[in-house]
Amino acid sequence: MRIFSGIQPTGAKHLGNYAGGFRQYAATQEQGEAFFCIVDLHSVSVPYDPADLRERTLDLFALLVATGLDPDRSTVFAQSHVSAHAEASWLLSSVTSFGELRRMTQFKEKSESQEFVSAGLFTYPVLQAGDILLYQTDIVPVGIDQRQHLELTRDVAERFNSRYGETFRLPSGVYPEIGAKIMDLQEPEKKMSTTGGTEQGTVYLLDSPDVVRRKFKVAVTDSGREIRHAEDKPGISNLIEIMTVSTGDSIDGVQSRYDGQGYGAFKSETAESVIALLEPIQARFREIRDDPGELRRLLALGAEKAAEVSRPTLESMYERMGFVRLG
Ligand code: AMP
Ligand code: TRP
Repeated sequence: MRIFSGIQPTGAKHLGNYAGGFRQYAATQEQGEAFFCIVDLHSVSVPYDPADLRERTLDLFALLVATGLDPDRSTVFAQSHVSAHAEASWLLSSVTSFGELRRMTQFKEKSESQEFVSAGLFTYPVLQAGDILLYQTDIVPVGIDQRQHLELTRDVAERFNSRYGETFRLPSGVYPEIGAKIMDLQEPEKKMSTTGGTEQGTVYLLDSPDVVRRKFKVAVTDSGREIRHAEDKPGISNLIEIMTVSTGDSIDGVQSRYDGQGYGAFKSETAESVIALLEPIQARFREIRDDPGELRRLLALGAEKAAEVSRPTLESMYERMGFVRLG
């Protein structure tokens, strides 16, 4: 089975990324042949700083390894190192409609908050479709916010297959049962996010224990006293989900453990469970990040494997679309 996922290097990575992304990557890499892509080309679709992009790309590689990816077993690479991604994006843009792209909620949301709306922000999902389709992917582990992009990817693949002949396998999104959408601690009706959330309500994977404690201490809770996962309790439900993600316990398990206890103790123990999750990750991160030479060697290894596997698909795309090939 082929597994593929992508994650943007810009923007500090947070607990939501861990729940919907990192955690699933490490688990799915055991199920087959896995590719994890640092989508640096996607990062230039919104304003960014070039020096920051360079640093963050290396940070993210280190974080992917620190959260459990084995670069000898899985292919971990940067999108810009494999030119097939940019090429596939152009070719697929001819089978993606303006109307489809205009309907994407991520585009609508992000374009509202930008003064300069780049063409890249609009065509972002086409690049993403290419990422996935180039590897004949079966499953794509992601958070629920990516569902619409996954559906578009299937539609684009089907359209290409019916116009030019069977070329792509149809991928399915895989969303975690719990933690597919971690919410902001201050505004639990919004998803936790570097761009759309609050600073106090976003727990970063590299936050120090004290910062984590403070953020949970001031986390918004709901009226009542009960520690129960319910629709009318968005704050507490989110904390319960965070605790299940950090301890591996079930929702029922957490509820019964805290039955009859107050919010205060529950919040501080949730903070401690997150600190216990993050500490070893941070220690591994620092160790790996400290060796840029080794990081570059591993990135080169990943790029080579990814280029080799994606090449035949790109080649069939060119062939079937009627381009003259030279070799
Ligand atoms: P990004 O950092 O936007 O590239 O996202 C990387 C991964 O994290 C994607 O699979 C997202 O679906 C996932 N993700 C982002 N925010 C959240 C969230 N608040 N809860 C769960 N998953 C998330
Ligand atoms: N759009 C995704 C996000 O913001 C990142 C991404 C790019 C991706 N290409 C991908 C995710 C391919 C899965 C598969 O989270």
